[in-house]
Amino acid sequence: MTAPLIDPFARPISYLRVSVTDRCDFRCVYCMSENMTFLPKKELLTLEELDRMSSTFIRLGVQKLRITGGEPLVRKDILTYFRAMSRHLDSGALQELTLTTNGSQLRKHARALAECGVRRINVSLDTRDDTKFAAITRWGRLSQVLDGIAAAQEAGMRVKINAVALKGFNEDELFSLAEWCAREDMDMTWIEVMPMGDLGNEDRLDQYWSLKDLRARLATRYTLTDLAERTGGPARYVRLEETGQKIGFITPLTHNFCESCNRVRLTCTGELYMCLGQEDMADLRAPLRAAPENDLLETAIRNAISRKPKGHDFDYSRQSVAGQVSRHMSHTGG
Ligand code: GTP
Ligand code: 5AD
Ligand code: SF4
Repeated sequence: MTAPLIDPFARPISYLRVSVTDRCDFRCVYCMSENMTFLPKKELLTLEELDRMSSTFIRLGVQKLRITGGEPLVRKDILTYFRAMSRHLDSGALQELTLTTNGSQLRKHARALAECGVRRINVSLDTRDDTKFAAITRWGRLSQVLDGIAAAQEAGMRVKINAVALKGFNEDELFSLAEWCAREDMDMTWIEVMPMGDLGNEDRLDQYWSLKDLRARLATRYTLTDLAERTGGPARYVRLEETGQKIGFITPLTHNFCESCNRVRLTCTGELYMCLGQEDMADLRAPLRAAPENDLLETAIRNAISRKPKGHDFDYSRQSVAGQVSRHMSHTGG
């Protein structure tokens, strides 16, 4: 028997997020700076190495695998990796194989993803206004993403929309986004903006819209019923009784969920981040490459998990940004 991964706070680690590339075809303002320097391709783990890495985590008890980026679908031949991971669904070792995507490449890949056993995907979309969409993503085109979402649904996958709550930006779309998602039979999650990366001209305090406020506004139009069900992620869900739809809240700022954290993050170069909101990481690429067997890698993973911190220190409550981390969100894929 292999001992499961348990961190110092007795939290079992069952959820691995794998960022397969740091690149993206968008430049969302809260995620990347306009001029990003990307990693040289030779630094990346190969698809075979990503397979070995992920499969080792799965052997150690990971049951949920979420592929992220950057934008995961811009990595060349990424479907090869999805196909390889689908064998763990077939064996029953993995309960869920999924991804978080900006949707731009879904028209091309939706069918193949569904064939790999991907049942639901999260698509990041903060606004349904063309001009605002172009402004927030800098490089994105809304129509392409909407078409990608349609392709995912045609392929039989459920879609959940992830929107970052941004003051003065999508406040006015609170109801129209909910109504659109209800019409299209999609769930939705709102996320509080976190202080990650070089903020440059972006002021997080100016952007920050608390989900406490968002929820109260939602309740002026809908009857909200708290749901006990969990997806294994940090969101807490309510049902809108009038539409039957689920809305999730990811509240790193107003309600910390770290006590139930079950996840770690692997980057495309083989760094393991034990917490999204801390700088500490462990290099897993060296032990992976040091030997063809996985013993060294397994030891390195266990050592890393034994250092998993209690949680993040993000805080805006003193009218200033605290707990910021220097890497961009695109480095670890959210
Ligand atoms: P579900 O499986 O649908 O519950 O997805 P998920 O919430 O686990 O994954 P998703 O990629 O949709 O996550 C949405 C966003 O929530 C991420 O991009 C992050 O911004 C944020 N998030 C996810 N996990 C954590 C976490 O452990 N800590 C913090 N602070 N934020 C997180
Ligand atoms: N704060 C909160 N969420 C963010 N995301 C990217 N940057 C941030 C941030 N600074 C979200 C995206 C996407 C996911 C990958 O992370 O909207 O849903
Ligand atoms: Fe790309 Fe997603 Fe980051 Fe936007 S949030 S820049 S879509 S990785």
